[in-house]
Amino acid sequence: MNQRLEPLRHFASDNYAGICPEAWAALTEANQGHAVGYGDDAWTAKAANLIRDLFETNCEVFFVFNGTAANSLSLASMCQSYHSILCHEIAHVEADECGAPEFFSNGTKVLLLSGANGKIDPAGIERMVKRRTDIHYPKPRAVSLTQATELGTVYTIEEIKAIWSKAKQHGLRIHMDGARFANAVASMGVAPKEITWQAGVDVLCFGGTKNGTLVGDAVVFFNLEMAREFDYRCKQAGQLASKMRFVSAPWVGMLEAGAWLRHAAHANRMAAYLESKLRPLPAVKILFPRQANAVFAELPQPVIAGLRERGWRFYTFIGQGGCRLMCAWDTTETDVDAFVADLQAHLQPAAPANATKGE
Ligand SMILES: Cc1ncc(COP(=O)(O)O)c(C=O)c1O
Repeated sequence: MNQRLEPLRHFASDNYAGICPEAWAALTEANQGHAVGYGDDAWTAKAANLIRDLFETNCEVFFVFNGTAANSLSLASMCQSYHSILCHEIAHVEADECGAPEFFSNGTKVLLLSGANGKIDPAGIERMVKRRTDIHYPKPRAVSLTQATELGTVYTIEEIKAIWSKAKQHGLRIHMDGARFANAVASMGVAPKEITWQAGVDVLCFGGTKNGTLVGDAVVFFNLEMAREFDYRCKQAGQLASKMRFVSAPWVGMLEAGAWLRHAAHANRMAAYLESKLRPLPAVKILFPRQANAVFAELPQPVIAGLRERGWRFYTFIGQGGCRLMCAWDTTETDVDAFVADLQAHLQPAAPANATKGE
């Protein structure tokens, strides 16, 4: 085996990838002269307008540094401290944000729902709401769903509407963690409005980083009332960038000529390609339907160890087990081929130590 110990690209996360050319070009362009600070600049206004155009509606848009801030602050704006947020048991807001949604909402409790393939079962909403209705129970106020999900699946329009129907019935608001919203849109071939405000979503956290920007996710309020004083919430939480144009300009670069969707579609295609290479291997088990840019696969432990020794990075602690293999805007077929070749090399039974030539 040759000694290539540092692959150029990994399958650990789409945030391992660099900044895409469109975002980089916009940054360079924004880096001219002076501009007003704290979001009152032309780049930020343009980015927000492009998001309004994309969703074909009037909405309030705020840029924060990352997805954890976007989720936590938007959820906090939907709830009082005595409320609860219903989400899937493996949701990022529950499992991967270090309690930030509870912290920024001053204690709003997160209640966990189950459901196959990382998606909330709408019947679970009803069960959780009706479990208790007394004053001692944290009153359910919001449902949070992740699109695409933490397991690389996507909610269909009908599935989101089924959640909406239950939410309406019980007076719950809908939050969408869209860290990989672009991958979901690319996978489904829908208009962004169809899986957001037209399906009952009040607030979307629209991810930029995994799509190709350097930093900064957009909080998009379709429910304008919920956006009231959100700017103060951002400032208090340390999420108001003084040089905001460098957070918002990459969004202009991504949105203006459709790079956001092109890059997401490419990442999804690479994941499909990876899946097509892994599926025929008897020692590999694909765990969930591959619908966005992640493939979850169960691999034999020695193969995992061997791939890591060869320098490949990927996660084994996310979701419900298995290896998460995530593709990004810059993943190439060559990367996939190199990974699969190394994987296959570790699947070969080792030659017996005492074997001699010609036996
Ligand atoms: C589903 C999901 N939501 C939100 C985030 C955003 O997290 P961060 O705060 O790291 O940008 C991530 C990042 O891994 C994610 O996978």
